Amino acid sequence: MADQAYRLRKLAELAGRSDSALADRRAGVERDIAADRQMRTSSSGLRRTRVMAITSGKGGVGKTNIVANLAISLSEAGMRVLVVDADLGLANVDVLLGLYPRYNLGHVVQGQKSLEEVIINGPAGIRIIPGASGLQDLAQMDAGRRHALLSDLVSLEEQADLVLIDTGAGLSSSVMDFVVSSDEAVIVTTPEPTAIADAYAMIKVLSQTDSDVYIRLLVNQARSESEAEQVADQILSVARRFLNVHVDNLGYVLVDVAVQRSVRAQKPFVLLYPHSSASECIRAAARRLVTGRSSPVAPSGIAGFIRRMLSAIGGRYVES
Ligand SMILES: Nc1ncnc2c1ncn2[C@@H]1O[C@H](COP(=O)(O)OP(=O)(O)OP(=O)(O)O)[C@@H](O)[C@H]1O
Ligand SMILES: [Mg+2]
Repeated sequence: MADQAYRLRKLAELAGRSDSALADRRAGVERDIAADRQMRTSSSGLRRTRVMAITSGKGGVGKTNIVANLAISLSEAGMRVLVVDADLGLANVDVLLGLYPRYNLGHVVQGQKSLEEVIINGPAGIRIIPGASGLQDLAQMDAGRRHALLSDLVSLEEQADLVLIDTGAGLSSSVMDFVVSSDEAVIVTTPEPTAIADAYAMIKVLSQTDSDVYIRLLVNQARSESEAEQVADQILSVARRFLNVHVDNLGYVLVDVAVQRSVRAQKPFVLLYPHSSASECIRAAARRLVTGRSSPVAPSGIAGFIRRMLSAIGGRYVES
């Protein structure tokens, strides 16, 4: 009995210590977010949203989990985050979060719903646009409806600091249109040779487009920090030597049963298991995303993203 009480006290102490360490780090992240906002504010006072695609060469590497948990971590730290679900697949962000949206962007494209009606609220204040793969039908919309949707999308600029786009996997245009149109792209890989080869193939294709997207790498499902570093070193150095492309190392997420458990529970692991190693890793990546020195590009905002998207899909941009 006494033994059990001792263990409980130790556990409480441990939790207390990690909570205060968390609070310290959160305060640091809050400062960085304020600096990031300042950086994105032009002399005219206009603040542009950072648009970031999370993508991968190979499927099933963990993109959707990373999008959902990164979004929540950044939102908890004070960033206004909009998640755009641009994956046609089944295991979508909303399913992972136990949300059941009734409408998606397709309804907006077809003129049945307004953008505000399809955006749903997720945990920790994140907002989600489901089914945004429909954005590629923009070119087929009649000019009036397209114009209305574009101005609704651009008005989100004032409501979000960061847009995170969950894309599908692979090099098809349904993925690449979103990636080349973003300010930044996070390519997710695992230590598996096939995933590494596919991540490299995606970097190569990106290097051959005229896109200015800033490329980052995140190694998921690593068994150790050193394994993750080895994988990242390999990809970064090959990209530098053979493609002359700089790839930023965003970090890694360890393989962790907390991820599978939270997928089954349809709850994000950063909320269900905040002290798990996967959660620690996600928060470290979130910190790296908001520290001033690692915000490499002046974002061109949602308007810039849409302009590039329209040119990628061959549509004509309708000037407002
Ligand atoms: N760090 C991790 N530790 C343990 N399991 C993980 C981890 N990351 C992902 N997984 C497992 O991989 C599965 C696939 O993850 P997820 O759906 O996020 O991948 P995805 O890249 O979005 O897939 P798709 O290409 O189909 O969209 C999860 O359901 C989970 O079981
Ligand atoms: Mg996915």
